[in-house]
Amino acid sequence: MCGIMGYIGTEKASPIISRGLKNLEYRGYDSVGVAMLSAISGSLEIRKGVGKIDEVQNQLKFDELDGNIGIGHTRWATHGTVSRENSHPHTDCAGKIAIIHNGIIENNIELKEMLLRKGHRFSGETDSEVIAHLIEDRMNSGEIGPVGFVDPAESVESVGSVESVGSVESVESVESVGSVESVGSVESVGSVESVGSVESVGSVESVGSVESVESVESVESVESVESVESVESVGSTGFGSCFEDACRWAFGQLRGSYAVLAMVEGADEIVAVRKDSPLVLGQADHGTFFASDVSPFLEWTKDVIYLQNHDFVVAEKGSLRICNLIDGEVDRPVDTVEWSVEEARKGNFEHFMLKEIFEQAETIQKAIQQDREVVDRIVQMIQEGFGVFFVACGSSYHACMTGSYLMSKIAGVHVNVVLASEFENYEHFLTDRTLVFAVSQSGETADVLDAVKAAKRQGSKIVSITNVMGSSLSREGDELLMMNSGPEICVLSTKTYTSQVIMMELLACALAGVEEDCARRVKELYMDVHNLTSKNMRESLKKLADLLVGKDHIYMIGRGLQYTTAMEAALKVKEVSYIHTEAFAGGELKHGPLALIGEGTPLFVFVSQENEDRIVSNAQEVKARGGYVIGVSDWDNPVFDYWIKVPDCGNLNPVIQAIPLQILAYELAVVLGLDPDKPRNLAKSVTVL
Ligand code: AGP
Repeated sequence: MCGIMGYIGTEKASPIISRGLKNLEYRGYDSVGVAMLSAISGSLEIRKGVGKIDEVQNQLKFDELDGNIGIGHTRWATHGTVSRENSHPHTDCAGKIAIIHNGIIENNIELKEMLLRKGHRFSGETDSEVIAHLIEDRMNSGEIGPVGFVDPAESVESVGSVESVGSVESVESVESVGSVESVGSVESVGSVESVGSVESVGSVESVGSVESVESVESVESVESVESVESVESVGSTGFGSCFEDACRWAFGQLRGSYAVLAMVEGADEIVAVRKDSPLVLGQADHGTFFASDVSPFLEWTKDVIYLQNHDFVVAEKGSLRICNLIDGEVDRPVDTVEWSVEEARKGNFEHFMLKEIFEQAETIQKAIQQDREVVDRIVQMIQEGFGVFFVACGSSYHACMTGSYLMSKIAGVHVNVVLASEFENYEHFLTDRTLVFAVSQSGETADVLDAVKAAKRQGSKIVSITNVMGSSLSREGDELLMMNSGPEICVLSTKTYTSQVIMMELLACALAGVEEDCARRVKELYMDVHNLTSKNMRESLKKLADLLVGKDHIYMIGRGLQYTTAMEAALKVKEVSYIHTEAFAGGELKHGPLALIGEGTPLFVFVSQENEDRIVSNAQEVKARGGYVIGVSDWDNPVFDYWIKVPDCGNLNPVIQAIPLQILAYELAVVLGLDPDKPRNLAKSVTVL
């Protein structure tokens, strides 16, 4: 889950790349590197190191590098340890080609073995490095020209005209060919009777005999021709950028998920490809931007091109070509990003996490603003469908858990909630009448996209719920609901979790035909949510954080909607404080977890009017074993050693009760001196399986 960035244009590239990578740091931050094509020497300059961008930037001074063409990468290690050698950009043996990659090359071992047998030398342990060597290998093989293959044929009578052929392995004889626009490489042709005109030929290995050829535009290289009767005219030599073709060939060898940017000494261009890993283009008057998402180039342009899988891009100064390696020429529209630069900035907050927590009074109102017709269609799909699944990971999964309770409570509809990484175990239940809700704030979580592929294989319908317009998931669904939370930069999901819960509430109410009531209650929630970020509340949570910093274990319990809230709260605390925090259903306590309680063990209990008695008696069982009970509830209770006062909002408790725990998690991280925005070992969107 890395962040990649590129720029080609008339501006100095290095400051643009460094600032862009800073905005991508939430995608991975264990090492960072850049490559620039010097406008002075024409040589490739690479600087990379281990650490967060600010640290490495101060050490290696990226902005000193000159040139208008550059690429940059911030890493989240998957293959190979965190080291300078394993950080990107990676180069070929000669150091003339530089590549950056986000994703996983599943066949990297066999490719590496093939390249090692050919004498390539590798400097790191990553899967990505093979890409640079593949391009080098193709360029050195002299086998250039468009990639694509024609099957071997005995003899060819007559062919009208041929536009472009990848490579011709062997053809017995050719009687007459009208015109040939371009041929990648010709291995052997028995005999050629007559060819109208040949625009360009990559390389010709051997041709038996050629009777007559009208005109030949350009020939890259000819190995052997037995005999040529007559050739009218031969045009220029040389073939389109061989780097471009070598990249096209190299990308064709890759299996897995990849967004790759590549550049080479001697060619003023950036070549890129994307498959199952995010890559978008930004268009400004002075140049073209490449990035894993829109936030790195928002300050320069809002004109964005969302690339599809297998899109192949060649950007030169002042020109941009996009084609698709499967579908050929394509026309990708330029969209306009709604988000503002400010939204993607911290403003007066010290951390994105706190800023995004404070935004929830507004974002929950935006979450309910959905296109009525789309909601009605989805309601109909649920009513007509046979089997509904909610599929997600992490916090989105917790929102789905809450959603399934709300669907049952409000609309009397059963929903199967499945972790996306476990969804394959349910594939045989899916039919073309099944409805699958795929929920992912980033819209790029690989497990969720994989689950969608599995559902589509069975003909099931997909409803996508995401926060990122243009993300893979936003394009996969039969119906799309946008969360409208604005950019969420902190690795921890906060405002997007509460927005997802609100959308679940809306869907359940729409199914039950009471969406007006839902809209009214969400409106009323504005002030309650706003008040949760009051000075008093923050001080009380800071005090609690001071009490908890020394603890090795923290437990949380709840029943019903309070149980799913406890799950989400536990995730927030563990993600950012690294303290082992676990949630249990209140009723499960006596079936095992109670054994974990000792003197002073902190236990949070989430209370609502609906199940107060039972959950308070669970808390008393813990208290009786010396546990330290922290109540999250609208009213105090003698069993509480610490009370966090939160209004009881019935079915909307999963929103109102989650927020104080988000703030507590934040305060814990700050007290522990940890970075709440970039917790260790995590990244904002998990784009590999
Ligand atoms: C939550 O704080 C984490 N960032 C993580 O669990 C996250 O919810 C999960 O990776 C799913 O992300 P998504 O919603 O972007 O798919």
